[in-house]
Amino acid sequence: MTPTLFSPAWIEVCSHAINHNDAYRRAAANWRWPILLQITHDDARTTAIYLDLYHGSCRVARIATPADVAQAEFILEASEATWRNVLTGQLDPITGIMRRQLALTKGSIATLALHSATAKALIAAISHPNLPDALTPTPPVQSVTAPTNHHTFVTTSRHGLNNDSVPMRLWHKAKRLGVWNPADIDFSQDKADWQGLNASERDLLLRLTGMFVAGEESVTLDLLPLIMTIAREGRLEEEMFLTTFLWEEAKHVDFFANGFLKHIAPDAGDLSHYHTPAYRSLFYDELPTAMHALSTDSSPAAQARASVTYNMIVEGVLAETGYEAYFAALARNNLMPGVRQGILLLKRDESRHIAYGVYLLSRLIAADPQIWPVIEQRMNQLMPIAMQIITEIFSAYEKMPFGLTFEEFSNIAMTNFSRRLQRIEKARDQMLDEYIEEDEA
Ligand SMILES: [Fe+2]
Ligand SMILES: [Fe+2]
Repeated sequence: MTPTLFSPAWIEVCSHAINHNDAYRRAAANWRWPILLQITHDDARTTAIYLDLYHGSCRVARIATPADVAQAEFILEASEATWRNVLTGQLDPITGIMRRQLALTKGSIATLALHSATAKALIAAISHPNLPDALTPTPPVQSVTAPTNHHTFVTTSRHGLNNDSVPMRLWHKAKRLGVWNPADIDFSQDKADWQGLNASERDLLLRLTGMFVAGEESVTLDLLPLIMTIAREGRLEEEMFLTTFLWEEAKHVDFFANGFLKHIAPDAGDLSHYHTPAYRSLFYDELPTAMHALSTDSSPAAQARASVTYNMIVEGVLAETGYEAYFAALARNNLMPGVRQGILLLKRDESRHIAYGVYLLSRLIAADPQIWPVIEQRMNQLMPIAMQIITEIFSAYEKMPFGLTFEEFSNIAMTNFSRRLQRIEKARDQMLDEYIEEDEA
């Protein structure tokens, strides 16, 4: 079975075919320029494919990143029908340019004409009849998206850093608001308040803390594959923000482990018995599986599944709802000012993380609307687990401490969830730049 034309799997197969084609290697010995192929589909969507072709080998083949567009020496644009004619050998690419069926929007026609044999050998290498069936089903995408060398740097290009982009706005915000030290928080009043709590109040705070601290540990451990994927795609602005993201998750672990558990409840012992079946399903299995899948499959669909799991469900539904309720329980009873201070700062960090997730999913959908069903399917799969986690917290108590109600928890969760879902869905037909970060308290 041959992969869908112009899909990431197809690009990967092409890359493999180019690198294992002796005729191409010989014909392209003097070709050293990256090219970008732009395909306009029948439904007006466009796909841009970046091929770094260098002295007979294909060093990088992938859906083009913004940096790739700047880096490409040649850009060829045509309709999907025209590209099909080229790939099936019915239209010679140089002839297609001469007849204006293919538009050369960047690069020298003279250079292309001089290398017409290279172009023919390239088409021969990647045209359908020559695609090796043995390569399907899709092998790992990682090799395609892992350039071994840099060919350009954003900071020395004409464009430089895009400070107006969502990730850079979040980066600047993180520098202002994300630098706080859990060790500076004074827990002395919190310690005194803890002594005055009854058994079920203590149990609920330990339960929530045991869920939060392991959740923060999990998101710290599981974020790296996404950062590596973004870095491999050359998205400097996003990676800059993601450095703050990972540091902040580590800081949240620090807050609970070295703050609450050390100063307020040092005798808490093993808290893993608070990890209910639904909690284990999400944090022990679903989250790490979706994130580490990116190590072998960094396709847009895999990125979408990872981001829905991490940003929309774990952070957007559970963390945000949980911290909101945790803060409310303490504030209404005027308890634990140190913990409340930390939770406020932590919530502010989390709102940037969620804003990045909304941006990432919107970007993926804007590039390919077919990602929407992937997002929807993953959300539908995980939302019941998230709601079950909340249910399991409440079912542990005959009378819920601190006057918390299930309706309050679940309403916050559902309101935030549907608001973000609507924003992401709009990316199917709206410009990405219209997405701005979440409001921060
Ligand atoms: Fe966090
Ligand atoms: Fe987070």
